[in-house]
Formats: sequence, structure tokens, C-alpha cells
Amino acid sequence: MMTFRNIDHIGIACRSLEASVEFYRATFGLTLASTESSEEQGVREAMLPVGDSGSYIQLLEPLSADTPVGRFLDRRGEGIHHIGYAVENLSDTLASLGQAGVRLIDSRPRHGSMGACIAFLHPASVGGVLTELVQIRAV
Ligand code: CO
Repeated sequence: MMTFRNIDHIGIACRSLEASVEFYRATFGLTLASTESSEEQGVREAMLPVGDSGSYIQLLEPLSADTPVGRFLDRRGEGIHHIGYAVENLSDTLASLGQAGVRLIDSRPRHGSMGACIAFLHPASVGGVLTELVQIRAV
């Protein structure tokens, strides 16, 4: 049986990382924990912790129009892009989901933000929701 610990983050597509970080700061008082750029994923991203819940808002700005988040913005505009769940053991969880017939975008873990290991599940297998699994980052 797999174990989802909590919602690690909500990924939100935006056109301007600076403007969105400033919006979340000025409106909700959220502060910036880290900013990273990933050529592999085609995004610049910012992680903003939500209080002491252990959950984050992950703001995503595409590096170019021809990236997954760039195409998402073209089709749907700014908004929620994916949900990231924290799991105890990412490799085991992927194996059991794969056996259960869930379509995996990543059959093996890869590097995510803030040193985490991540993998995406295809939205076609999750009721239209792009779903990310995150192996708990070492504290
Ligand atoms: Co994410």
C-alpha cells in the first residue's frame, strides 16, 4: 500500500516569476524559500512555504514558449499546473502504480527542486490532473 504523506506543493504556471512572487508576498505574506532554473524541465521556479505546514506553492515560469509550461500557458493561461504529493519511497510507489496500470511520464525518479527526487504521472490516468510524486527531501 502506498503512502502519501501530505501535499508537498501546488505547481502554478505564471508568465512572470518576479511578478507572481511579489503578488504572493504582498497579498498573502508568503516568503521565498528558493529559486531555481531547470533546463531539463524548461522552467524557472520559485518555492514559497505555506506557514509551517510543510507544503509549498511552486511558481513556474517557462524558459520559452516551446516548453511544457509554455504550451500550457498558451492553451489554458495562468493557473494551477500540477499537484505534488510527498511519498515515503518514490521508486516503490512508481513500481506499484505502474503495475496498477497508471501511465507514468517518468518511470524512474529524477531530480526536482530543493534536492528532492520527483516523478510525474500522466494526467490521462489521474482524471485530468498532472500529478507529481516527491520523495521527502532530507531535512
Ligand atoms: Co512540481
